[in-house]
Amino acid sequence: MSRVVVLGVFNADVAFRADRLPKMGETIHGKSFHLGPGGKGSNQAVAAARAGADTHMITRLGKDAFAEMALEIWRDAGVTPVITRHADRSTGSAFIFIEEHSGNNAIIIAPGAAASMTNADIDERAKLISEADVFVTQFEQPMGPAHHALEIAHKGRAITVLNPAPAMDMPEGMLALCDYVTPNESEAEALTGIKVVSLDDAQQAAMALVARGAGAAILTLGEKGALFHNGSETVHVPVMNAGGVADTSGAGDAFNGGLAAALARGKAPEEALRFAAATAAISVTRHGTAPSMPSEAEIQALLARS
Ligand code: RIB
Ligand code: NA
Repeated sequence: MSRVVVLGVFNADVAFRADRLPKMGETIHGKSFHLGPGGKGSNQAVAAARAGADTHMITRLGKDAFAEMALEIWRDAGVTPVITRHADRSTGSAFIFIEEHSGNNAIIIAPGAAASMTNADIDERAKLISEADVFVTQFEQPMGPAHHALEIAHKGRAITVLNPAPAMDMPEGMLALCDYVTPNESEAEALTGIKVVSLDDAQQAAMALVARGAGAAILTLGEKGALFHNGSETVHVPVMNAGGVADTSGAGDAFNGGLAAALARGKAPEEALRFAAATAAISVTRHGTAPSMPSEAEIQALLARS
């Protein structure tokens, strides 16, 4: 079975839906509240596992109720935890605001125990990382371990995927360790200085990322779909409709997890891109982040009718 290894963060998602954000000092009524499993790395691992990959999740958790939530979603999805646990630090959590009329979101994260990850955590998992079919990471845990793990994966046999989220300054040379870098519009702008509105902007930003060393860039563009560029070839995949939009939070994670699962199976970029887009399209029809990740059968069914 193809293996995906994810380094990242689990967050308990504390999600509120409301018409708007309150102003400072103001209290408003929300429409609903939901508590569920999230965190970009964990969401991507859940998506990859549901999409059919043998998936391992490297992170740190606390010893609290939120950690139990992590272990439960991983058990359900079939993700193998590769973790250390800390009694004196909380498990990650995220405040998610969902705008009622659009389904768009804004997020504050507090990664807790995972914020204390070090390069030593990575060294302990070096064999798992270097022997993965696909290695995936993001920027919710500290930059040092993300960089170190990408070096190990790149030296090894793994295809490397960096989802540069949330946007952070990264060390020069890091993009050269990435076979795929997968920013959304705002992350692409943070990395390249190019404001991404049109598909043409996306193409310019993708070219800039490849010029700086990435093997390929895949920009996720919300309702404009996704754009792949690897220096010689550009592929645009329009957004797929799986039945409307209930909640876009976690859609980027669905895309990255689906992408990783498809690449691990040896799919060519264009096919992996379509598989990832289908994974994301189904996830936005459902509330929550990790719980909205589709099964491989659901993804195949959408691809067959798209
Ligand atoms: O990408 C969505 C995720 O970002 C949420 O699950 C939240 O935990 C934040 O990490
Ligand atoms: Na969702």
